[in-house]
Amino acid sequence: MKRRKFLKISALGTLATGIVPATLLGSRDCDLTSADILGPFWDENHPYRTLLAHADEPGTRIFISGTVTTNDCEIPIQDAIVDVWHADDVGCYTVFQECDTGNPGEDPYNLTGQMLTNENGGYSFESIWPGYYGGRPKHFHYKITTPAGLEHVTQCYFVGDPQIDESWEEQHAGRIIPLEEGEGGLYGIFDIFMNEEGEQVGVDDPHTPIPSKAFLNNNYPNPFNNSTEIEFGIIRAGYVSLAIYDVSGKWVTNLLDKTVASGTHLFTWGGIDAFGKSVPSGSYLVVLKSGGFTGSKKIMLLK
Ligand SMILES: [Fe+2]
Repeated sequence: MKRRKFLKISALGTLATGIVPATLLGSRDCDLTSADILGPFWDENHPYRTLLAHADEPGTRIFISGTVTTNDCEIPIQDAIVDVWHADDVGCYTVFQECDTGNPGEDPYNLTGQMLTNENGGYSFESIWPGYYGGRPKHFHYKITTPAGLEHVTQCYFVGDPQIDESWEEQHAGRIIPLEEGEGGLYGIFDIFMNEEGEQVGVDDPHTPIPSKAFLNNNYPNPFNNSTEIEFGIIRAGYVSLAIYDVSGKWVTNLLDKTVASGTHLFTWGGIDAFGKSVPSGSYLVVLKSGGFTGSKKIMLLK
């Protein structure tokens, strides 16, 4: 499945009927993150921090997280520098322009920050949703530098932005992210796939409750009669969709469609569809989508 399609589907919240989940089986989005311009507003002295906007900065609070991985889209890159900068609520860049700010210290590096990825390749930051300027869609600028020295300059955009048309969308595939409303603001996930071959450096620690990578286990019991339990794990907090489909690809119900904490989660499905009706005996698919991860398992209902 192409990432663009995935993002469109995510934006709808649920998969439309007619999509055949079988095509999701074993599929991962492994398109490398494409490059974008650096633009005139990058500065080499962005401070290391994950809170880019003061609490009084005007605008909608936004929480972005993601992972930086090698070109198999799976092996995390630890200690990569993720450098982020963006315009304020009215499209002004503090370092280079005179901007009104809610930052009492008149921080010259307002709305900029660098961070290091953790052992899961993860990064996250809090800021405000950038404003428009010069007819461009809203965007965050990114410059990623891996410990091996690979630099990648890109930008991420947002699903539903009226400044984005279809051909533009085509050219920026994989970098237009859906936003979800959550506690205190908007939440989005931007995963970055670097053109770098990797070796597994993460260490599996059996004592940590957070898995080393996302997974979806076989449901238990299977086949089932009354209810079955579905277990999955994600390596960082983020938007997760867990949905049931029948074998013809028709959507049956959502078990989960929101932002959840990192770690292992257990959900029960009692063979009930989205309209509260019992579904007939047969084969179903449970499909998990979280960030760049998609997994699916077959479920058998016997009455
Ligand atoms: Fe910009």
